[in-house]
Amino acid sequence: MPTTFDFSQALLDWYDLYGRKDLPWQQEPTPYHVWLSEIMLQQTQVSTVIDYYQRFLGRFPDIQALAKAPQDEVLAYWSGLGYYARARNLHKTARIIVEDYDGDMPASLEALTGLPGIGRSTAGAILTLAFHQCYPILDGNVKRVLARFFAIEGWPGIKQVENQLWLRAESLLPKQRIANYIQAQMDLGATLCTRTKPDCPHCPLQTQCQAYILGQPEAYPGKKPRKAIPVRHTQWLIMQNELGEVLLEQRPSQGIWGGLWSFPEISPDEDISSYCGRYRQIEIQSSTALASLQHVFTHFRLNIQPTLLRCRVSGVADKDQSKWYRIEDTFKLGLPAPVKSFLKSFNE
Ligand code: ADE
Repeated sequence: MPTTFDFSQALLDWYDLYGRKDLPWQQEPTPYHVWLSEIMLQQTQVSTVIDYYQRFLGRFPDIQALAKAPQDEVLAYWSGLGYYARARNLHKTARIIVEDYDGDMPASLEALTGLPGIGRSTAGAILTLAFHQCYPILDGNVKRVLARFFAIEGWPGIKQVENQLWLRAESLLPKQRIANYIQAQMDLGATLCTRTKPDCPHCPLQTQCQAYILGQPEAYPGKKPRKAIPVRHTQWLIMQNELGEVLLEQRPSQGIWGGLWSFPEISPDEDISSYCGRYRQIEIQSSTALASLQHVFTHFRLNIQPTLLRCRVSGVADKDQSKWYRIEDTFKLGLPAPVKSFLKSFNE
């Protein structure tokens, strides 16, 4: 790269003209606002996050309010965003900040990366966007911009490739306007330097971009080696009592959908009537297999066979971990996305 090219200045000039300045979390970039938005944006698009962000802040306006809330309610406000460990970590971290840091988000890389759910890049975003300290970030967008600019080979999931990207990111940091610069990197990646069909003619880095010069910007960054993801099978028991209520169970806090409310689940070869008879003193009046559903996780595909069981219930009281709910009331709970969409169409 010729020394005459000023990477950060080119980005900042572009940002002044085309960068995003009206996102809700940019209006008052407090540490809490930046942290919350960064966590929501980790696996989710801006357009989806905006509504969730505003509703979440309406209910938990500051770290204290979040720390005080029961986990169930935090998960309910996260319901539909997926990757619920993010919400559980957010909640844990709010409690740690109140307990150990007097309610103020710590402003050092070391303290931030010691908190649940905050890695080096999220810490970098908080330190730059909220505290105006000089740190790099390396989210998916920035990895793509830098991998292309320097034509860095290999998949960034490989430690050695990631380390190279961190070193480059660090070497480019400007002395001024760090928050705008970091936002500019993310915006360039999100709007021009996209994964497919990058808009190189409008890119302020085009003339020096090594991937562009090599004629194949889309070849960077290298792709993750593909493995076929396994399919797992499960059965959902949609038990409905004579009042039209459905039985939901709160899942254990570890494992998929930890802490969320879902239908009783049994393995594909388990017998439904013996399960109900054994555990619930429930008399099944009718049993109807419904259309199966698929839900895709990062590491496997879940095939779900739901069976509707209309039941007569004899003397089974609600327990903490399993309750009968009117369908309208279930939407206030933390529900996994496929449970929520199932209940919605079931209700119609
Ligand atoms: N993705 C991650 N952080 C972001 C931010 N601050 N603005 C827009 N998209 C983002």
